[in-house]
Amino acid sequence: MFHLLKSSSVALCVLRVSVVIFLCVLFYLSIFIALNPALPYIECIMELHTGPCTVRSWQWSDRDSLVRNANNRKIWINVRDRFPYPYRNDDADRWLAFARSMRPETNFAIAVEGKAVGGIGFALQEDVNRISAEIGYWLGEEFWGKGITTAALRAVTDYAFANFNLCRLYASVFEWNRASCRVLEKAGYICDGTMKQSAIKDGRTIDQFLFAITRGQG
Ligand SMILES: CC(C)(COP(=O)(O)OP(=O)(O)OC[C@H]1O[C@@H](n2cnc3c(N)ncnc32)[C@H](O)[C@@H]1OP(=O)(O)O)[C@@H](O)C(=O)NCCC(=O)NCCS
Repeated sequence: MFHLLKSSSVALCVLRVSVVIFLCVLFYLSIFIALNPALPYIECIMELHTGPCTVRSWQWSDRDSLVRNANNRKIWINVRDRFPYPYRNDDADRWLAFARSMRPETNFAIAVEGKAVGGIGFALQEDVNRISAEIGYWLGEEFWGKGITTAALRAVTDYAFANFNLCRLYASVFEWNRASCRVLEKAGYICDGTMKQSAIKDGRTIDQFLFAITRGQG
């Protein structure tokens, strides 16, 4: 009787240890899978379908299309200087590594017929500004004027308000970028004003328009 009790408590102990080991292995395996760029089958984490495009997680296989579409001075002149020009393969590699490792994920590809032809994302602000995020986007020139960015912006605005504790999304637009102002207006953003002489681009000191949308508006 004593032997029976002893062996069943040993069995219970072994079972408990096995369960703990199993759970630990499962935990580390899921972290490995989530962070490993070499595993294509977990590529798509986020996917929003709009009429003219899909907004989705960046994939390693986007590199060539990203370089082809991003390497354009007409895009560079309208965005921050950290967006490279010329845009090379190693710039794309760095971007893909960064965007894919970010948690929470806030930078996405704009895809048309499966190909990443642009990007859209938002930067969560900090401290007292943590209820705000700055949104930005670009699209390959070949696809301009088809309502693609407006659709992507609407979708990502809704996604950001639905999934993050945000009250406000905003964008600053260089003074000459009327197309971007129009995109923001069409997506329900309102011009809060002009930030006089607030940026320097291509050697010029310029004004920027500040556009914003608040939760429940639009
Ligand atoms: C700005 C940009 C994202 C627009 O993308 P897009 O997919 O062509 O935009 P959409 O087709 O959804 O809408 C463009 C709108 O701007 C209008 N537009 C285009 N050029 C314009 C101009 N020079 N002046 C006024 N309106 C203009 C279009 O007519 C359209 O409005 P409509 O539908 O009322 O006719 C794209 O041109 C781009 O990537 N530019 C370079 C990067 C950039 O500017 N990023 C934004 C930084 S704030």
